Amino acid sequence: MIPSQPFPSPKLESSTSSLESSSDVLILGVCEDDDGNAYLDSNGDLPKRLVEHLTQRKLISAKLGEVNKLVFPNTDGPSLIVCIGVGKTSDRTRDHAFDSAATAVRSINAEAQGVVDIALANCFAEETHDSIVAGILNACENQSIYQTTPKEFVPETLRFIGVGHQAIERGRIIGEAMIHLRRLVNEPPSEVYPESFAVKATEIAKASGLAIEVWDENRLETEGCRAILAVGAGSSKPPRLVIMRHQGGGAEPPLAFVGKGVTFDSGGLSLKPSDSMADMKCDMAGAATVVGLMHAISRLGIKRNVIGICGLAENMVSGTSYKLGDVIETRSGKTIEILNTDAEGRVVLADTLNVANDSKPSAIIDLATLTGACMVALGTEVAGLMTNNQTLCDSVRDAAGKEGEPVWQLPMFELYDEKVKSKVADIKNVGEGRWGGAITAAKFLENFVDATPWLHIDIAGPSFVDSARPHRDAGATGVMLRSLLRWVET
Ligand code: BES
Ligand code: MN
Ligand code: ZN
Repeated sequence: MIPSQPFPSPKLESSTSSLESSSDVLILGVCEDDDGNAYLDSNGDLPKRLVEHLTQRKLISAKLGEVNKLVFPNTDGPSLIVCIGVGKTSDRTRDHAFDSAATAVRSINAEAQGVVDIALANCFAEETHDSIVAGILNACENQSIYQTTPKEFVPETLRFIGVGHQAIERGRIIGEAMIHLRRLVNEPPSEVYPESFAVKATEIAKASGLAIEVWDENRLETEGCRAILAVGAGSSKPPRLVIMRHQGGGAEPPLAFVGKGVTFDSGGLSLKPSDSMADMKCDMAGAATVVGLMHAISRLGIKRNVIGICGLAENMVSGTSYKLGDVIETRSGKTIEILNTDAEGRVVLADTLNVANDSKPSAIIDLATLTGACMVALGTEVAGLMTNNQTLCDSVRDAAGKEGEPVWQLPMFELYDEKVKSKVADIKNVGEGRWGGAITAAKFLENFVDATPWLHIDIAGPSFVDSARPHRDAGATGVMLRSLLRWVET
């Protein structure tokens, strides 16, 4: 086991201080319309005039996401000012607060920094301030966790000017939850396998006061989780199932989150080519999202009952692998015919959803890197929504809209049902070739939730990305955590 980079742990402070104070860097939001530049108004003539002159001459820009750096060699204040454009008033949403803050701190991460003051709060409405904190903290985590000489540095202290303590605490919790989630995904598959995922989830759960239960292979056997066991059968690493519980809502039925946790997807006997396999450590992003989300829910003390369930298996090739033509009696009693071992996520979820249903939840939301077909349909940045309950789907879509995470619903017409019917068993684990692959996968899942309101979120595209952008590194993104947190809270 090689040690990876420690978790970023900058000091986060609330501050009312001004430009004259002792900081090494000032991150300064620059607004395209005047109204948000109050920080400059109240902080002496020089920076205000400077920023105004430079903006007028188009030497720096207030356009959303633009970064310009000013160096001050001979002052008592910060020697570096990072101007981050935050655009017009209408641009200043929660996601833009998150992204602008992230972009600014990422622009100075090539060097170690001492105290960084962040003057962004003036530009953004108070209800977005936690997002500034979460965005900055999350941006301190990168995928380069195994580089022996770090290329990115985390500032020692982050001082948020004009952000209250509550917003700092909330931002800290959301940022840390996203870091946990992304670290779980970014760690290599030999480090994160079903058993070690369960151990890491247990540590995270303990730290946040969640109750947690882990089912090992024996318990999975006695519980009749034959579908999870089948997917894991080819691996030397046995499967697990993790159940986390947050009790904040008295006697109400719980909300259930279910995550696909295929810690590595080789495709099994329906082996993937190397190019498609290269990123398949990310195939547990759904389960990691559930862990991160439960952590945040517990630490925020949300007054709801919530359970989080992760179905964990490694999909490998060996003499003991599950096979094409196999028929499995799932925990629910329904039988499934395996016609492609690479359609393993739905097989794992069949049992995991069934376990979730035991708790008689008022709603089930599953998160899964389920299909390449969803990426073909929606591209790499948009999560697919499929549901048996339009009200539930609408409420999650609204929450995602408010957090600025793009989602799009795909239809679940009855006409798709026959495409997963099997001649041998009740259903088969593939649809009609490639056609409508995201939907036929969801149709398969629908068989395991009975009448419970259910939403399936296919995050194959947005959960793990190839290239870095100014506001985020490549690798795991932490997508949907913020949206689902908001959904739980409303
Ligand atoms: N884990 C993959 C889906 C995936 C693809 C996630 C790309 C992230 C990026 C899933 O298990 C899979 O292999 N799905 C197959 C299903 C097919 C065999 C019916 C697919 O999408 O090709
Ligand atoms: Mn697969
Ligand atoms: Zn998979």
